[in-house]
Amino acid sequence: MLRKITALFNRKRMADENMLLQTIDRNNIPNHIAIIMDGNGRWAKRRGMPRSLGHRAGVESLRNIVKLSSEIGVRYLTCYAFSTENWKRPRDEVSYLMDLLVEYLEKEVEELHKNNVRVNAIGCLEELPQKAQDALSKAFRKTENNPGLTLNLALNYGGRREITDAVKKIASMVDQGQIKCEEINDDLINQSLYTFGMPDPELLIRPSGDCRISNFLLWQLAYTEFWLSDVMWPDFQRLHLLQAIISYQQRERRFGGLIKK
Ligand code: FPP
Repeated sequence: MLRKITALFNRKRMADENMLLQTIDRNNIPNHIAIIMDGNGRWAKRRGMPRSLGHRAGVESLRNIVKLSSEIGVRYLTCYAFSTENWKRPRDEVSYLMDLLVEYLEKEVEELHKNNVRVNAIGCLEELPQKAQDALSKAFRKTENNPGLTLNLALNYGGRREITDAVKKIASMVDQGQIKCEEINDDLINQSLYTFGMPDPELLIRPSGDCRISNFLLWQLAYTEFWLSDVMWPDFQRLHLLQAIISYQQRERRFGGLIKK
């Protein structure tokens, strides 16, 4: 009986997904989507499971969303996997997350490479455990020439830290006489951020019901469209990404100006 219900449920989900796939405007896919992968802990707690299993289930969602993003032509997908504040969590949880990162990279890199995905990361990577740095370097090297989606993992990432680092870089350029103070502008700041060379995200997705930025891409999200959902990240499916993109496609982006009618 349960198997029958699951099969019916899956069939309905596939039908909904196909319908949305036909609805999205392929000429207006966001170039850059950012995701705060939130809700793993609550997802697990509701099921009477340890938080670690919520994170593990979150990896499945990440796999599905990377695959779909790559299929529909998203250029950059930035996923918040570990913030500069997450070190405050119990040591066991931090250690589990780092191991999960290594496991994810080791297991997935072949598949990512096959799908032309380039693996990249933003954040203070040099402060990550050595095994995580090694797994990242390996994945970067293997996929560096791939022309498809760039999967940008935000690891030990903090928006304030990124801006502070950029300010330090620019201050030292001024200090050394390479530029004058008056020459500091948006472009130079963009070039000094971890996301140098990437367009700002057009769409930010935050599942799990919270409505905050949580120190994510503070500069880059200035005019990004937000899509918020109560779905916990481990329950986030392809269907939800398609819904978010369709919602984005229906919005009028004015960037503080007016639309000429
Ligand atoms: C926030 O949910 C999630 C994190 C701090 C970790 C995100 C990590 C994953 C999705 C695992 C996959 C990533 C890689 C690259 C291995 P939370 O734990 O704060 O959830 P809660 O708000 O319900 O407690």
